[in-house]
Amino acid sequence: MDKLVIEGSTRLCGEVEISGAKNAALAIIPATLLINGVCTIDNVPNISDVKIYCDILKELGAVIKWNTPNELTVDTRNITSSRAPVEKTSKFRASYYLLGALLGRCGDAQVGIPGGCNLGARPIDQHIKGFEALGANVETTKGTITATASRLKGSSIYLDMVSVGATINVMLASVLAEGTTTIDNVAKEPHIVDVANFLNTMGADIRGAGTDVIKINGVKELKGNATYSVVPDQIEAGTFMIAALASKGDINIKNCVAEHLEFVTAKILEMGANVSCEGDNIHVWCNKRPSKVNIKTLPHPGFPTDLQSQIGVALSISEGTSIINESIWDSRFQYTAELNKMGAKIIAQGKSAVFEGVEKLYGCPVYATDLRAGAALIIAGIIANGTTEVYNLNHIDRGYENIEEKFRKLGAKIQRVSE
Ligand code: EPZ
Repeated sequence: MDKLVIEGSTRLCGEVEISGAKNAALAIIPATLLINGVCTIDNVPNISDVKIYCDILKELGAVIKWNTPNELTVDTRNITSSRAPVEKTSKFRASYYLLGALLGRCGDAQVGIPGGCNLGARPIDQHIKGFEALGANVETTKGTITATASRLKGSSIYLDMVSVGATINVMLASVLAEGTTTIDNVAKEPHIVDVANFLNTMGADIRGAGTDVIKINGVKELKGNATYSVVPDQIEAGTFMIAALASKGDINIKNCVAEHLEFVTAKILEMGANVSCEGDNIHVWCNKRPSKVNIKTLPHPGFPTDLQSQIGVALSISEGTSIINESIWDSRFQYTAELNKMGAKIIAQGKSAVFEGVEKLYGCPVYATDLRAGAALIIAGIIANGTTEVYNLNHIDRGYENIEEKFRKLGAKIQRVSE
């Protein structure tokens, strides 16, 4: 089992280049199944969930060629199966996109019930509601979900709650359906817009992505024969913005989209950081102890839940007492127990946590409980006095490309060690 060994404390200074968005790539790769042709996708993050997805697509008949570590060409002219391998699809959350893509392409799809980070209940009733509205029959038995439809017909769908996954999945299933589909109360994350842009590049007719209503005019076929570049990862960029604040450092974050991070920028400015944006660079520097703030996570453009644990590290050493309300997930404060081991004073109860800021954290062995908690614990180890060992790196490797190398280039004393 690998671990990261971090010697603190360090001010992070220098430049970091952001990779393509994990949550866009994990939807765009299955979306290629809708294409009766060949396409090339660039700026793909080199992470384990992407590799698993490529293995699954190959088992379904796709031909995948990696041109560079971040660019792949996908040939989906010959799909031989619509039954995805259960043992692979249960390894991560985004496997549910195979339902929408295979249902749209083949009128049939079977996927293992998705796994992914343990954030509390993660139902997919809204995905199923959308598929059924399009005329599909969906059954969940023995750990698998099977969706079938003789033909998919456009419909009007109102999602009961804002859901990234359901928004994208219903969009995938609608692209080749007969007629027009309107999806209301949709998520507006940058990766939703990116998936819609990808599909439109390949021949789809999707309008309104990034607003509250998405309209899809079904088309006969997606031809592909195009190249698409995945949007930069706003969560990775936000992770480094918060690392600059927490370490009182000075980081120039390259290849990111400032307007995708407005809520994060607003919050770290409130906490005392300085931020300047120029083109696709965001420069964050801070030379004082962060000030306390209160945070409520919300769907985009609110403060993202995927940066909640990272900002929690900055709050744990800020001046005063702060509160975080987590409105998306039932159980996303598991990381606070690890920070308390390091000397933080956090009381987490249900969907809220109170952070009584302390002067310093102290290094010790800590365990990542999910992908973003892992990134948070790395930041905690960098700013703590002494040595921190971060375990359960499988969580981190699922979503961050070369994370220790990126932090090392910013001055962190961090090594991956095999136990
Ligand atoms: C996506 O998860 C992301 N994962 C998550 O990022 C992210 O935290 C989340 O969106 C919110 O932004 C991927 O994109 C692979 P949701 P998803 O459907 O689609 C409830 C990371 O760290 N809900 O927007 O699963 C659900 O329980 C990961 O990169 C239903 O009740 O999230 C939650 O409370 C962690 N029924 C809320 O909606 C449904 O059918 C939002 O979930 C669907 C969702």
